[in-house]
Amino acid sequence: MKRLFLVSVWFVFGACERIIPESLLEEEVLDGPIEGLSKSEQSQFLAGDIAFNEVFFEDNGLGPLFVATSCGSCHPGDGKGHPFTTLTRFGQTQPNVAPDLTIGGPQLQNRAIPGYEPESLPEGVPFMKFNPPAVTGLGLLSALTDQQILDNADPFDLDGDGISGVPNYITPPDYFIPQWYHQPFNGQFIGRFGKKAAAIDLLQQTVGAYNQDMGITSTFEPIDTSTGLSTDPEVSDQTIRDIVFYLRTLKDPIQRNPNDAQVIKGKQLFTDLNCSACHIPEWTTPQSDIASLSEKTFYPYTDLLLHDMGPALDDGATEGSAETYEWKTPALWGLGLSPGSQGGAYFLMHDGRAKSIEEAIVMHGGEAEQIKNDFVALSSEDKAAILKFLESL
Ligand code: HEC
Ligand code: HEC
Repeated sequence: MKRLFLVSVWFVFGACERIIPESLLEEEVLDGPIEGLSKSEQSQFLAGDIAFNEVFFEDNGLGPLFVATSCGSCHPGDGKGHPFTTLTRFGQTQPNVAPDLTIGGPQLQNRAIPGYEPESLPEGVPFMKFNPPAVTGLGLLSALTDQQILDNADPFDLDGDGISGVPNYITPPDYFIPQWYHQPFNGQFIGRFGKKAAAIDLLQQTVGAYNQDMGITSTFEPIDTSTGLSTDPEVSDQTIRDIVFYLRTLKDPIQRNPNDAQVIKGKQLFTDLNCSACHIPEWTTPQSDIASLSEKTFYPYTDLLLHDMGPALDDGATEGSAETYEWKTPALWGLGLSPGSQGGAYFLMHDGRAKSIEEAIVMHGGEAEQIKNDFVALSSEDKAAILKFLESL
């Protein structure tokens, strides 16, 4: 008995050693709480972490139609996902026109539990593929006020820099409770989360993911995606609140090598080229109900606004008030850690089509066309510095 125990302990430790590299530093992983959480906040973070990685089966509510079986399977280690876990959205082809639910929109559920037919994409409809983004640092972004976001919007490009930037105005779900930092606009609110900024807050993003990605109903979203009927909640309100808390208190990615000479040079070039017009480096939160999120300066490299990215990135489908060619500027923090959760390679841009950081930059068009051309015209030394800087984020 004793011997068997020893053998299994050896086996477990032996196995871990090979899977988990020994010396991963704090700045090399995305998972982990923001600093300064109280004891009770830490335990809610932990409850949310467990729920985020809970795997669903037929027995605990999965499906009948679904895309994946846990939040963590698409956002591994809270990082970007592999294109194997890409979502497909379709049904809305114009801004401010509700998605056509009769053809199965807004999301394709391409898997099903035994006995059910998975959905397939109707022929000829425009669709968008979304590669899972990292979910780190979102509490800081959700703590900002709508006014802070609006301060950078420039829909008519009055400053003449070729860059406009507009919010995605979203009709809120009926469970949405506006906070003091939200600002209504004709009954709609500014979206902040998702590739097109279609989710106003982390609650909407979370209950939408349960419902659309895993076929899990809640009191917030009680309608089953396959039957269109209301069902008993398959996940509790408490679990959803724990996940939202977890997302709010996941730490922001920590830059590596910020003092490296090439990184410093690359950062300067990033500003000189005006990449920073959309990828705004620095923000400061106002007061927040979570002390660790209050009055904190952080570096996400996004403006949370939509930009015209040109015809090559126009998929013909959309969400909310966004045009089909508009995308929300993604945060660049954690960029260099992407391969760690994407199978050792980069899959960037909304659908993972860019296989390197340089490819992602060269795919910029529309409002970023001139800036992209300026990047392409740089000396190879300057290009290398920008790429080194971006990898350090
Ligand atoms: C099938 C894969 C998949 C599953 C499962 C999944 N997600 Fe996502 N997640 C995505 C994709 C793809 C996006 C981008 C979606 C969009 O633009 O609307 C996303 C976006 C998000 C975002 C917004 C990130 C940002 O920066 O804007 C959050 C937060 C999030 N997911 C949390 C969750 C939670 C919580 C769960 C489980 C309840 C979950 N996800 C399940 C694929 C997935
Ligand atoms: C007009 C606004 C704008 C400007 C200017 C801009 N970007 Fe972007 N950037 C975006 C948007 C929007 C996306 C996402 C497009 C998509 O997903 O299809 C993006 C995506 C990226 C990505 C991929 C991120 C990821 O996680 O997939 C990188 C890297 C990037 N930009 C770097 C740069 C650099 C470097 C510059 C300057 C040379 C720059 N950007 C200028 C708006 C901009």
